[in-house]
Amino acid sequence: MRVGILTGGGDAPGLNGVVESATKCLVQAGVEVVGIVDGFEGVYNKDTIALTIDKVDGIHQNAGTILGTSNKRGIGEDADEFVACFKELKLDGLIAAGGDGTFKALSDVSSRINIIGIPKTIDNDLSGTDITFGHYTACGLISRSISTLKHSADAHKRIMVLETMGRTAGWLALNGGLAGYADAILIPELDFDFQALVDSCKEKLAQGSRGLVLCVSEGVKFEGKKIIKQIVEDAPETERLGGISSVLAIALEKELGIEARNVILGHLQRSEPPEVFDKLLTLQLGASAAELVIKNKWNKALAYKNCTVMPVELNSFTGAPRLVDPKLELIKQARNLGIFI
Ligand code: F6P
Repeated sequence: MRVGILTGGGDAPGLNGVVESATKCLVQAGVEVVGIVDGFEGVYNKDTIALTIDKVDGIHQNAGTILGTSNKRGIGEDADEFVACFKELKLDGLIAAGGDGTFKALSDVSSRINIIGIPKTIDNDLSGTDITFGHYTACGLISRSISTLKHSADAHKRIMVLETMGRTAGWLALNGGLAGYADAILIPELDFDFQALVDSCKEKLAQGSRGLVLCVSEGVKFEGKKIIKQIVEDAPETERLGGISSVLAIALEKELGIEARNVILGHLQRSEPPEVFDKLLTLQLGASAAELVIKNKWNKALAYKNCTVMPVELNSFTGAPRLVDPKLELIKQARNLGIFI
């Protein structure tokens, strides 16, 4: 049997772990494994590399993906071309790790080729799975950044506004912001009242805080408007968000009469080496994908539910994004701690 592995969409810490784990299991079971370069592009361009145990040994420790990835070209109207190229590669099946864009694209060809899908995104916004790998590593960086910025905030008696990724979902700002004990956390799922935020900052400063660190998700709207940084033509998701932290810092400085600065964490959130949870999760995802291949059980995806990796339907992740439930216990607890949210 000859199987291809592909990583698609934005990179996430742990992609290399999936490649190492799946390759090691498959090669030891006698399966030939090839890596497809740069996501779907590698199928159209028939660009592959041989994956051997030697080639993948130890890559799980590194961020990025040795295969390259892309969040541009999908499949859609190119389904016939995609299937023809796939056949030319003489592959019996495909293991694809990706986000909602990758899964939507795969659904265009899932009746014509053998696929195993592995969900991935630092945003943690895929319905059908409890947690996606990369998320907790990104939250680790966010929480460390909040603690680090507190030093400069205190030194200068400033407000520092830290901006996270996450698109329409607030998981990164919520989990990273809580782990860092931010003074305020703003997420797209909860409309916020600017005057209430100002009052909360005033109160914290009056109580003796020298500086404050606020954590805001890129999808948060200000005065009803989301802040779009860029439009990427031809991408499954064309809008790139970014800039809310700058808008907020300017507005807060004006209202509070103390200096405010913003920091956009950006792609640093995707570039950290995976932390232990993500290493363990990707080991299990890669090994479970290999097991399905060896048992010839195709057109499945893998979900992580109740602390267990399990096979689910391939189309399990193409629904609406999984957003933060405003009634979450964690939000109540944050408020009890005095965090503005
Ligand atoms: O979906 C992952 C993500 O990192 C989002 O949080 C972010 O909005 C987007 O990708 C950024 O995409 P790009 O890599 O195209 O800038």
